[in-house]
Amino acid sequence: MLILFFSELAVLLTKEVHPELYVDTSRGDKLKINIDVIFPHMPCAYLSIDAMDVAGEQQLDVEHNLFKRRLDKDLKAVTTEAEKHELGGDDEGVTFDPSKLDPERCESCYGAETEDLKCCNSCDDVREAYRRRGWAFKNADTIEQCRREGFTQKMAEQKNEGCQVYGFLEVNKVAGNFHFAPGKSFQQSHVHVHAVEIHDLQSFGLDNINMTHMIKHLSFGKDYPGIVNPLDGTDVTAPQASMMYQYFVKIVPTIYMKAEGEVVKTNQFSVTRHEKVANGLIGDQGLPGVFVLYELSPMMVKFTEKHRSFTHFLTGVCAIIGGVFTVAGLIDSLIYHSAKAIQKKIELGKAS
Ligand SMILES: *[C@@H]1O[C@H](CO)[C@@H](O)[C@H](O)[C@H]1NC(C)=O
Repeated sequence: MLILFFSELAVLLTKEVHPELYVDTSRGDKLKINIDVIFPHMPCAYLSIDAMDVAGEQQLDVEHNLFKRRLDKDLKAVTTEAEKHELGGDDEGVTFDPSKLDPERCESCYGAETEDLKCCNSCDDVREAYRRRGWAFKNADTIEQCRREGFTQKMAEQKNEGCQVYGFLEVNKVAGNFHFAPGKSFQQSHVHVHAVEIHDLQSFGLDNINMTHMIKHLSFGKDYPGIVNPLDGTDVTAPQASMMYQYFVKIVPTIYMKAEGEVVKTNQFSVTRHEKVANGLIGDQGLPGVFVLYELSPMMVKFTEKHRSFTHFLTGVCAIIGGVFTVAGLIDSLIYHSAKAIQKKIELGKAS
């Protein structure tokens, strides 16, 4: 009776979770993407991260809090402080002091000037201008801006490093994608172009693009009890150079209502991965990198957590007590009657 009672008590102390399915009618919410990914063979200076939504526009106005951390060969942090990463922006820590230069200056782009990029006041500006022209960016040391910023040293320093990208992105709640790819991205006539410069690659001293990655954490919102994030702990080793990994993510909006009244608005997701070798450097055959393409499901799941009812528990306890007595009585009478019958048989046998 005690065993049954305690098992019933244990059930009472757990919570009941009741799932329901709705069509998602909420609008205009933001989607928070939590990211923690390690690229063991991709220097931070070379890795760029971009987010785009279904409108095709790069989301420059997203509130973002992404950080890059340089890692050495043993995946230990190189420096203690992380660099804040600006989406689509220029972020590399610069060793020289730009405030010493004339803010009104207009330096040469070495022939790569365009209408909207007339001055190249930093190494990144020159690289950008070169890329827009489709020119190879080869000898960084012949470019004054790059020499001043220690571009070559920076690249050489980071040559054998890895990079950890962590933090979160806040994007509009529409389908979209974000990607981690080598090379700088830029906008060309309002189209997002991701340039992978093989010349750049050489200036980094990298032999190939090794897109080996480890996803420590990827989720689309807050955690709730019992959530499963299917990509957490994924370890992918690139068997070949220049691999393109695509993660197709279907996000299921989820509301979790806790018994205490707290409402957690979050998302679950399912994912499929596709991988291929991206030979083409720009365009048709894909680009090396890790791409996450997400889509929102029109259906929404609502979990309602409830305490188990106490009267239910009482009923259970009564059933246990009553039931045990009844069953015990049955067994008792069975044993009694059969013992009696056997005794009678024995007596009859003796008499004859
Ligand atoms: C990438 O690096 C991993 C080790 O982390 C290695 O096993 C793999 O062979 C490398 N891939 C290429 C193409 O070099």
